[in-house]
Amino acid sequence: VSPEEERMKEAHILAAEYFQNLLLNTEQGEEGLNYLEGRGFTRDMIETYGIGWSLPNWDALTTLLQHKGFTLDEMEQCGLIIKREDGSGYFDRFRSRVMFPIRDDVGKIIAFSGRVINQEGENAKYMNSPESPIFHKSQVLYNLDQARPIVRKERKLIIFEGFMDVLAAKNAGVHNGVATMGTSLTPQHIQKIRRITNQIIVCYDGDNAGWEAAKRAADMLTAENLTVEVAVLPAGLDPDDYIRSNGAENFREKIIAEPMSFVSYMMMYAKRNKNFQYPNDVQQYADEALSYLTTGISPIEKELYLKQISEDTQVSLETLQGQLRLKETQSSDRANATPQKHFNEPKQLQQA
Ligand code: UTP
Ligand code: MN
Ligand code: MN
Ligand code: MN
Ligand code: MN
Repeated sequence: VSPEEERMKEAHILAAEYFQNLLLNTEQGEEGLNYLEGRGFTRDMIETYGIGWSLPNWDALTTLLQHKGFTLDEMEQCGLIIKREDGSGYFDRFRSRVMFPIRDDVGKIIAFSGRVINQEGENAKYMNSPESPIFHKSQVLYNLDQARPIVRKERKLIIFEGFMDVLAAKNAGVHNGVATMGTSLTPQHIQKIRRITNQIIVCYDGDNAGWEAAKRAADMLTAENLTVEVAVLPAGLDPDDYIRSNGAENFREKIIAEPMSFVSYMMMYAKRNKNFQYPNDVQQYADEALSYLTTGISPIEKELYLKQISEDTQVSLETLQGQLRLKETQSSDRANATPQKHFNEPKQLQQA
């Protein structure tokens, strides 16, 4: 690590201490503190997670860090302050926000995410640090430093959509969760994960965006030969919402301890918005569901899933088995052949 990057991390430590002091010990931090308490955070948790508050001022952090000997250029490079477009100076990036420090794999603070406490106006809900020499969004998994030893012991790692979900899960006694920083899962994230475990639970929000993202993540992880399960939440709830309305124990036992297998999830997903009165929908569903049965699955599982598809669609087992054998030939052809275009095949297989 370069001395410049060390300085940037030092600036982040000071900033985090400053933000936390404002939140916990000043009148100006009270609205932030009330907000967090309303969301179930105790002072203890706030200290443990290093959460803070940023003042509405344009130059509060700038001034503090200048007094500590940091240059404007250094602060700007690591995203703590922003250069005015007209060149007349700099201003604090984070203002009037609840401040969540983002740590790297060894627990060093490398970025912040700041949440507005009332969503009026056009302010984004979360403002994140920009890419910088110390913060690469496509590589960072929130809470990985804390989760790592637990995952090594318990084997499973949970991927949530938001870091608030990671924190809500921790408060509910589930400590093996991580989250991406507002990006989709990347190959670099997956490389980090696979050094720790090969068993992943994807637990994304119960909305359209979450279902889509869970499908993409599960597809990517499976393609990397990791074992994927999907913990599905009721429509309209994210993990944090679910815990608040159903309690910690229910979350642990009904959601985290009973995830769906990758194939079941994909089948359920393929079933959405389909009406099996229509032959077209039957065809599409069968085609998609069968595509998940061609590789990496035991004969017993295969039979069980085939029965499921048959029950769903009222197509006979024999027909489905025939269709599956056709797909298996196609996919082994493809494995042996030079790449070529296959028509009539679902996207997932072509990507895998
Ligand atoms: P969500 O909108 O699901 O946020 O976005 P959340 O975790 O439920 O947060 P609360 O409960 O409303 O406080 C999931 C993730 O997407 C990124 C953040 O990383 C967030 O954790 N995001 C979301 C942003 O970066 N900016 C935004 O404005 C919104
Ligand atoms: Mn770097
Ligand atoms: Mn969401
Ligand atoms: Mn959410
Ligand atoms: Mn939420």
